[in-house]
Amino acid sequence: MQNFIFHAYTKMLFGKDQIEQLPEVMDAYGKTVLLVYGGGSIKKNGIYDKVYSLLKNWNIIELSGVEPNPRITTVREGVRLCKEHNVDVILAVGGGSTIDCSKVIAAGAYYDKDPWDLVLDGSLIKEVLPIVTILTLAATGSEMNKNAVISNLETNEKFGTSSRLMIPQASILDPTYLYTLPAIQTAAGTADIMSHIFEAYFSREKDAFIQDRFSEGILKACIKYCKIALQEPDNYEARANLMWASSMALNGLTGSGKEHSWTCHPIEHELSAFYDITHGVGLAIVTPRWMRYILNQDTVDQFVTYGHNVWDLPMEEDKFAMAHKAIDKTEEFFKEIGIPMTLSEVGIDDSKIEIMAEKAVKFGGLENAYVSLKKEDVINILKNCLS
Ligand code: NZQ
Ligand code: ZN
Repeated sequence: MQNFIFHAYTKMLFGKDQIEQLPEVMDAYGKTVLLVYGGGSIKKNGIYDKVYSLLKNWNIIELSGVEPNPRITTVREGVRLCKEHNVDVILAVGGGSTIDCSKVIAAGAYYDKDPWDLVLDGSLIKEVLPIVTILTLAATGSEMNKNAVISNLETNEKFGTSSRLMIPQASILDPTYLYTLPAIQTAAGTADIMSHIFEAYFSREKDAFIQDRFSEGILKACIKYCKIALQEPDNYEARANLMWASSMALNGLTGSGKEHSWTCHPIEHELSAFYDITHGVGLAIVTPRWMRYILNQDTVDQFVTYGHNVWDLPMEEDKFAMAHKAIDKTEEFFKEIGIPMTLSEVGIDDSKIEIMAEKAVKFGGLENAYVSLKKEDVINILKNCLS
C-alpha cells in the first residue's frame, strides 16, 4: 500500500429531516448566502421552499440554472454575484453539477482573474468561501470531496480541478430527496459510483486488501439497491444505501494508497465535452469495453476476484472464462437498469473519435493508467462502444 493522507473533513448530516439543522450549520459562516441550484427540480420537490423557510434571517442571493455538465460561464456569473454582494457562504442544493459549480465559484470569489484558470490549475486556489451542500442525487461524491469538473462547450473542453480547500464544510444527505429522481439519473448515478470504485479497484497496487473489501461492499450495495430504487422510487433503505455509497466511493476511502491515473473518466469527459451527454451514461458505455480491452495475463486475477466477491461467481479453473463472465455481468447490469449501452444510442458517431482519444490520452494521463493506453488503444475502445 502506498503512503497517503486521508482527511475526512466534511460534517455529514445524514438522514430524514436533517435539513432542520441547516440554520445551525449556516450560522457558523455568516448571513449572506449564495444559494446555487440547477434547472428547478428543487422547486418541484419542495426543498427550495424549505430552505427559504429555514433561512428567513439570512440574506439570500440566488444563482439558478446550473447546467448538468456545469459551464464556466455559470461559474463566472456566480463569482460576479459573490463579489458584488460580499457573500459569506455558498449553499449548493443539487447534484454534482451544482456542487462542482459552487466549488469553483467559492474559489473564484478570491481570485482576481478568470476562474477558468482555476479549472486548468488547482494549485492557483489559495482561499475559498465556505461551502455547504444539500445533496439531491447520489453519484459524484462531490458532497465530500475536493474535486470539481467544469465544461467549456464552446471549446469542447471539460476538465477536473482539485483542491483540499474546496471540500464542503458540511453536507446534508436526506435519502428522501432522491425519491423524485428520473429513473435514468438514478441509474446513471449508480454507474458513476461504481466507476469511481472500478477506477481504483483495478490498480497496479496489489497490496491494498482493506480498500478492495470496502470497494466490493460498495459495489454490492449499488447492484442490490439500484434495482430496488428503480422499482420503488420511495424505498428509503435503497435510497439511503445509494446516497451513502456516493459519498464513500470518492472520498479517499477506497482510492487512498492506490494512486494512478484513471481511465474511463478521462475518456468519458471527452464524450461529454463534445456531445454533452450524461456522465454516468458515458461511463457505463465505456466501462465493459475498457474491461475487455485490458483483460490480459497481468490483470486477469483481479477480474476473477471481482467476479467472485462482487457477482458471487463460483471459482473456475479457466480464469479468463470467469473474467469474461464478470465483465458480461457488469454490462448486463447496466442494461437492466435502463442505460443506453452504445454510443450510437446517445447520438455519437465515429466522426470525432480520433480527437477525443487524443485529448483523453493527453489530458487524462492514460499512459500512467492501470493498463497504459495510447491514442490507438482509446480509438479501439471507443469504436467498440459504437454499437
Ligand atoms: O438541474 P435540476 O433541475 O436540479 O435537475 C438535475 C439534472 O437535470 C436532476 N436532478 C438532480 N437531483 C434531482 C434531480 N431531478 C429530480 N429530483 C432530484 N432529486 O438530475 C440532473 C443531473 O444532475 P447533475 O448534478 O448534473 O448530476 P450528477 O450528480 O451526476 O453530476 C454530474 C457532474 O459531476 C461531474 C460530472 O462530470 C458532471 O459534470 N463529476 C464530478 C465529480 C466530483 N466532483 O468529484 C466526479 C465525477 O466523476 C464527475 O466527473
Ligand atoms: Zn464520475
